[in-house]
Amino acid sequence: MSGSVISPVFIGRKDELAALAQLLDRARAKDTGFALISGEAGVGKTRLVRELADRAADLGFLVLTGQCVELGAEGLPLAPLVDALRTLVRTMRPDALADVLGPAAEGLARLLPELAPGPAVGPAAVELQKAQLLEHVLGALGRLGEERPVLLVIEDLHWADQSTLDLMAFLIRSLRDARVLLAITYRSDELHRRHPLRPLLTAWERMRTVDRVELDRFDRGEVAAQLTAILGDGPAPAVADAVFDRSGGNAYLVEELAGLVRNDRDLDELSPSLLDVLLSRVDALSADAQKLLRTACVAGRAVSDRLLATVAGFAEAELYATLRETVDNHLLIVDPSGYGYTFRHALTRDAVYEDMLPGERVRLHAAYGEALAADPHLASDPGTLPATIAHHWYAALDLPRALPATIDAARAALTSYGPAEALRHLERALEIWPRVPDAEERTGLDQIEVSRLAADAAYRSGALDRARSLIADALAQLPAEANPERRALLLERSAIIVRDQGESADAAATLREALALLPDDGVTRARAQVLATLAGALMRADEMPQSIEVARLAIDAARSIGATDLEVDASITLGALAYTDGAEAGLEWLREGLRLALAFSVDNPWPALRGYVNYSDTLEMFGRHAEAAEVAGEGIKLAVRFGVVRTLGSYLIGNRAEPLLRLGQWDEVDQMTAEALRALPEGVFAGTLHQIRAELAAMRGRYDEASRELKNVRRSIGAMVDAQFTLPFRYLSAMVALGTGDLAAAREAVTDALGGIFPWMPRYCWPVLWLGMRVEADEATRFRDRREDVPAWIAGRCDQIARVAASLITPSPSAVGYQALVAAERARAAGTDSAAIWSDAAEAWRRAEEPYPLSYALVRLAEVHSAAGDRDEAVKAVQQAHPLAEKLGAAPITGEAAALARRIRLPLEAGAAAEAAAAPGGHQPKPADELARFGLTDREREVLLLVAAGRSNPEIARELFISAKTASVHVSNILAKLGVSGRVEAAAVVHRLGVGVAPGPEGGR
Ligand SMILES: Nc1ncnc2c1ncn2[C@@H]1O[C@H](COP(=O)(O)OP(=O)(O)O)[C@@H](O)[C@H]1O
Ligand SMILES: [Mg+2]
Repeated sequence: MSGSVISPVFIGRKDELAALAQLLDRARAKDTGFALISGEAGVGKTRLVRELADRAADLGFLVLTGQCVELGAEGLPLAPLVDALRTLVRTMRPDALADVLGPAAEGLARLLPELAPGPAVGPAAVELQKAQLLEHVLGALGRLGEERPVLLVIEDLHWADQSTLDLMAFLIRSLRDARVLLAITYRSDELHRRHPLRPLLTAWERMRTVDRVELDRFDRGEVAAQLTAILGDGPAPAVADAVFDRSGGNAYLVEELAGLVRNDRDLDELSPSLLDVLLSRVDALSADAQKLLRTACVAGRAVSDRLLATVAGFAEAELYATLRETVDNHLLIVDPSGYGYTFRHALTRDAVYEDMLPGERVRLHAAYGEALAADPHLASDPGTLPATIAHHWYAALDLPRALPATIDAARAALTSYGPAEALRHLERALEIWPRVPDAEERTGLDQIEVSRLAADAAYRSGALDRARSLIADALAQLPAEANPERRALLLERSAIIVRDQGESADAAATLREALALLPDDGVTRARAQVLATLAGALMRADEMPQSIEVARLAIDAARSIGATDLEVDASITLGALAYTDGAEAGLEWLREGLRLALAFSVDNPWPALRGYVNYSDTLEMFGRHAEAAEVAGEGIKLAVRFGVVRTLGSYLIGNRAEPLLRLGQWDEVDQMTAEALRALPEGVFAGTLHQIRAELAAMRGRYDEASRELKNVRRSIGAMVDAQFTLPFRYLSAMVALGTGDLAAAREAVTDALGGIFPWMPRYCWPVLWLGMRVEADEATRFRDRREDVPAWIAGRCDQIARVAASLITPSPSAVGYQALVAAERARAAGTDSAAIWSDAAEAWRRAEEPYPLSYALVRLAEVHSAAGDRDEAVKAVQQAHPLAEKLGAAPITGEAAALARRIRLPLEAGAAAEAAAAPGGHQPKPADELARFGLTDREREVLLLVAAGRSNPEIARELFISAKTASVHVSNILAKLGVSGRVEAAAVVHRLGVGVAPGPEGGR
C-alpha cells in the first residue's frame, strides 16, 4: 500500500476554528479561556486541536499537550499533567524553567523528577496533599502566562483519572486573568450515566467562562473533499457515495475506507459492521504484522520497541521490518510524546483487542506482566510502571500476582498526588483478597491493614464518608482477642476522620475509648499518639481545661520515648493554654513546638505551619501586634514554598493582616488581603480574609462594602459554628448596623454574639462587649437628646453586658483598652461619663498602640470636655483625634471630630474637613423631623442650624438679615426649648439627632 490515508488538507470546521481562534485572541489579552471540545471517536477532535495548536504556535503561544490514558478502571494519576510538564522541560531553558516553576519545582518534581535537578526532592514518605499540587499547577501556569501565552490541550478527558478531573475542575474554577487557553477534548459517545465526567460537565455548562465546541460528522461534500485530498484525485461519484454511506461522515472511517479504495477493494463486499471496516486493513497485512498489532493493542497507551519484541518474541531485524509494515500502512505511529509506538487511533486498537480470543488476551497480559516485572527498564514510562503491572496481572486473571502489584501501585499513587487512584487500587486489592489464599505472605500485610490503608487514601482524597466506613470495616475485622494497641490506633484514625467531619465531641469520646485500651504503666508510641490527638480534639470541642491536661500528659509521654513529632503536636496544642489563663507559659510552649518542628521536620511542612498559625495567633491574642505580624510573615514564606498559600497560607495572611490592622497599617492590609483573594482560596480560608476586609471597610466607614464582604464571609464559612468565626462575624454585623444608624439591628447582632461567648476567647469577646455597650450609650443619649426619659431596660442591658465583661480575662493591652471602653460607654449610657473615664480609655489605647480606638476615645473625651464647657481641653483632644483618624482613613471618626471642631469653633485644616465630608459611606440616619418635638418656630429652627454649624450671634445676624440682638434672643429661646445650657451643647444635640447642618461635614455614626 502506498500513500497516506491522512488528508494533508484540513477539511471544513470553519465556525469551530473561528470560535477557538477568538479564544486565543482573548487569552493573549489575559482573558483566560476554557474550551470543551466534544464529539464521537474519530470525528476529528484531535485534528481540530492540532490545527488550533498550529495557529497558537504561529501567534507565539507555548503549546502544552497532555493525553489522558485508558488503563483498566484505575487510571494513571495525572498522566496528562506529566505529559505537559515533559514538554515544558523539553522546550524551556533550565534557568527560565526554574523561574517559571518557582516554588512549584520541588512539588511537581514528584511527578517528573527532571523538574528539580539535584537531590533536593524530599522523601516519598512525606504526605503530599492535593491542595499543594493544585496550587503548584495554578501558580506555574500563571507565571508561564506572564512569559508568553499558553495553550494547554488536555486530550480525551473521558479516560481521565480522578486526580486529573479534580485538577481540571480546579483550574476552571480558579484560573483567572492568566494568558492561558485550556482546551479539553472528550468523547461524547463514551459517557455512560454514571461516568465521573458527567457531573463536571453539568457544572461547566453553567459557567460563562467555559465555551463549548461540538463536532459533528462530515456531510457528503466534506467527505468528498476529504477523499479527494487523500487520494489526490476526485473519486468517482459512486465511490464517494459508498464511502459516505459506510463511514456516516466519521473522518476516521473515511480514512480507513480510503485505504481500501486505494487498494481497489470493493466496498460493497465489506460486511456492514464497524469492526469489520476497522479490521479489513489489518487483515490485509502479513501474519507477523498482525501478530505485532495484537501484541501492541494489549500494551495500553503506547509500547516501547524492546518491550514489543520481548512479548511478541521477535528478533530485532524481524521486529523492525514488521514495525515498518504497520507504520507504512498507517496503523501504528510513533507516539508523539515519545513513549514508543501507538495505534494511529484508539478505535482500531480497540477493534483489534476485541477481535482476539479471550485466552489470547489473557496470555498476552501475563506476558507483559512477566516481562515488565523481570525488566522494569522495558517500560516506556517508568512513572506508570506499578499501575501498568497491576493492570496486566489483573487482566491476566493472575490474582495472586495482581494483589501485591496493586498494593505497590497504590503506594506509588500516594506519593504522586493520586490519593483517589490509590483508593481505587486498594479497593481492588480488598476485592481480590479473599480469592488469594496466601494473600498475607504475598503482601506482607493483613486485610485489616489494607482496609486501614484504603481508609487513609480515602481520607486524603477528601472522601470522608468512605474513609469512615473503611475504618469501620477494619475495626469490625479485628478479632476480639487482638492486640489492644492495634485497636486503639484504628480508633484514633477513626476519630481523626470524625473530627474532620465536624463532630469533635464524638471524636473525643472515641479517643477516650482508645486511651482506655492502652495501659498507663509503660509509655508506648501508641499511647503518646492517642494522647496528642485527644488533646487536639478536646480543644476543638471547646473543652479547654481537659485539653490542657491531656496535652501535658502527651508531651511527657512523647518526650520519654523521644517521639519529636508527637511532642511538637502536643506542644502546639498546649500553647492554647495561653487562652485560658492569659499567661505567657502558653507562648513558650508554642515557641518550643515551632522550634522543634523547624529543626526536626525539614521536609514535612505541616507541623511548622501549624506552629506558625498558632504562635502568631496567640501573640496577637496577647496584643503583641508587631511580633505576631512578623511570625505570620515567616510562616507565609514556608507556605509559599510548599504550595499551600491558598489554604493554610490564607490563615497566615489573615494572621499577619490582623495585627497590621490594629497597628493602623490599613493600606497594606487592604493590599495583601486583596492579593490573597485573587488566588481564589476556598471555604474558611477565604472567609478569614473577607472578614478582615469587612472590618477594614467598616472602620473606614464604607458600610456598603463592609456588607458585601460580610456576605462573602457568610458564603465562605457556611455552617461553621466555631466561635472564632461567628463572634467576629456578629461583631462586624453590629458595627455595620451601628454605623448606618440602625441601633436595633446592632443590638440584635450583639445579642446573638453574647450567646456564643466563651471566657477563653477574650480576643473575640471584648470587641463585642464594647460595641454592645456603645449601642446602649447611643440609645440612651438619643432619649436624652429628645428630652425623654431613658427607659430602665437600658440600664438592665448594660448590667448584663458588664457581668459578661467581669468574667473575661484581660491578657493584652488591647483587652485592657476594651475594658476601659466598656466602662466608659456604660457611664455614657447612664449619663455620668466624665473626662477622667474617657481619658483613661484613651491612655489604655495609647499603651496598646492602636490608633483607631484611641482616636475614638479622644473624640468622646473632647465631647465631655465640651459639654462641661471646657473648650481648651476639648480643643486639645480634638486636635489629637482628628489627625489620627484622618491619617488612618477612619472617615466616621474623622467626621465626628470635624463636626465637634465646628461646634466649638475650632478651625481645622480646610482640606481635612472637606475630605471628611466627601468620605464615602459617611452615613447618617434619616432625620425624621427630629426637631419637631421641641416646638421651635421656623425662624428658631433656622437659627438653631446655624448655631449647630458653629456660627456666632453676629454671623447669624448677618446671614439672616436680623439684628445681633434679635439673634441672641432667638438663641436663648432655643436653648430653653431644647433644655440645654449652652450653644455648644445645642449643637451637639442637633448633630446627634442627625439633623443636617449646612454647610458641613457629617460623619457616620
Ligand atoms: N477536519 C479534518 N480534515 C482532515 N482530516 C481530518 C479532519 N478531522 C479529522 N480528520 C482525520 O480523521 C482521523 C480521525 O480524527 P481525530 O482527530 O483523530 O478524531 P478524534 O480525536 O475525534 O477521535 C484523523 O486521522 C484525522 O487526520
Ligand atoms: Mg482524538
